[in-house]
Amino acid sequence: MAGKLMHAVQYNEYGGGAAGLKHVEVPVPTPQKDEILLKLEATSLNPIDWKIQKGMLRPLLPRKFPHIPGTDLGGEVLEVGPGVKNFKVGDKVVAMLSHATGGGLAKFAVAKERLTVARPPEVSAAEGAALPVAGLTAHQALTQPAGIKLDGSGKQANILITAASGGVGHLAVQLAKLGNTHVTATCGARNIKLVKSLGADEVLDYKTPEGAALKSPSGRKYDAVIHCGSGIPWSTFEPNLSENGKVIDITPGVNAMLTFAVKKLTFSKKQLIPLLLFPKAENLNYLVKLVREGKLKTVIDSKHPLSKAEDAWAKSIDGHATGKVIVEP
Ligand SMILES: NC(=O)c1ccc[n+]([C@@H]2O[C@H](COP(=O)([O-])OP(=O)(O)OC[C@H]3O[C@@H](n4cnc5c(N)ncnc54)[C@H](OP(=O)(O)O)[C@@H]3O)[C@@H](O)[C@H]2O)c1
Repeated sequence: MAGKLMHAVQYNEYGGGAAGLKHVEVPVPTPQKDEILLKLEATSLNPIDWKIQKGMLRPLLPRKFPHIPGTDLGGEVLEVGPGVKNFKVGDKVVAMLSHATGGGLAKFAVAKERLTVARPPEVSAAEGAALPVAGLTAHQALTQPAGIKLDGSGKQANILITAASGGVGHLAVQLAKLGNTHVTATCGARNIKLVKSLGADEVLDYKTPEGAALKSPSGRKYDAVIHCGSGIPWSTFEPNLSENGKVIDITPGVNAMLTFAVKKLTFSKKQLIPLLLFPKAENLNYLVKLVREGKLKTVIDSKHPLSKAEDAWAKSIDGHATGKVIVEP
C-alpha cells in the first residue's frame, strides 16, 4: 500500500466542532516493526475525541496538527510489521490506537500489536469497535477501584451507575451484573426500559427529584458509584454512600480533584477516586469474548458513513447518544 492515497477525516486546529472536520486524501500509513496495517470496517467515537479537538487536553493532545481523530477500531489485517508475532494478513481484529496519534477516521490505520486483539466471526466490526475506550473504562472502574469480581465470587455490593444509557454506562451495567451486585442506574426517561433490559435492578430518571438526589428506590446505600455522568457534586453522592462507599469519577473536573484530595488528606472512609484509563489487551480480549458468548451487548446509537463523519461527531458532541456512535468507512 506504500505510496497509495486514502480518504481520511482530520482537523487542522483546536475548536470548530463538526465544521472543523475536513475530508482529505492522505498517504496510507506504513506499519512499523510492531504495527499492523488495518483496513477499517468500523470506528467508534468517544467524547474524548471531540474534547481533544476542543483543546481540553492542550498542549498534550493531539501530538500535532493535522490530526485524524478516532481510536477504537474494528478491521481486517492488510499488512504486518516485521516484529508482529500474533497476527497475519486477513485476520479480523479489534484495536485501540493512542489518543496522541489517532488515525481512526480513515479507510486504513496502523495499530500497535500490543493493543490489538482477535475478533471472532460472531462479533461484528461495529460491536468490536464499540469496546475499547468505553468497555475498558467500565471494566477498569468496576474491577479495580470498585473491586468487583466479574466471576460473581465477591461479596455482595450495591453499585450506582450514572448515565447508564451512554457508551461507558451501558457496558458498565452489564459488566457489574456479572459480579455479585445490586445495580441502581440513572438515565433519561426514554432509556429506562433499555437500561433495565441490560440488567439494572432499579433505574432512576435523572430529571426527576429522586433521580437528581440519586436515592435508591429500595433504600440501598452504594458501596461504589461508577460516575459516567457529570455535574453532580459530592454533597449529592455523600448521603447515598455506605460507610466505606467510593465514587469513581471517570470525568473528574477541578471540584472532583479537590474532593479527592480532601477525602485522602482527612482519611475519610468515603472516597472520591478519579479514574484514568490504562488500556490492556488482555481485558479487551475478555470483553470481545463476552460479546461472542452473548454475555455483553453493545448498544449502537447510530452508524454514519465516513463521508458524513461530521454527523457522527455532532451526535457525540450533543451528549445524548444511547450507546455508541459508529463511523463506517
Ligand atoms: N477516565 C477515562 O479514561 C474515560 C474513559 C471514557 C469516557 N470518559 C468520560 O466519561 C463520560 C461518559 O462517556 P460516554 O462515552 O459514556 O458518554 P456518552 O455516550 O456521550 O453519554 C451520553 C449519555 O449520557 C446520558 N446522560 C448525560 N447526562 C446524564 C445525567 N446527568 N444523568 C444520567 N444520564 C446522563 C445521556 O442521556 P440523555 O440523552 O437522556 O440525556 C446519554 O445517553 C464522558 O465525559 C467521557 O469523556 C472518561
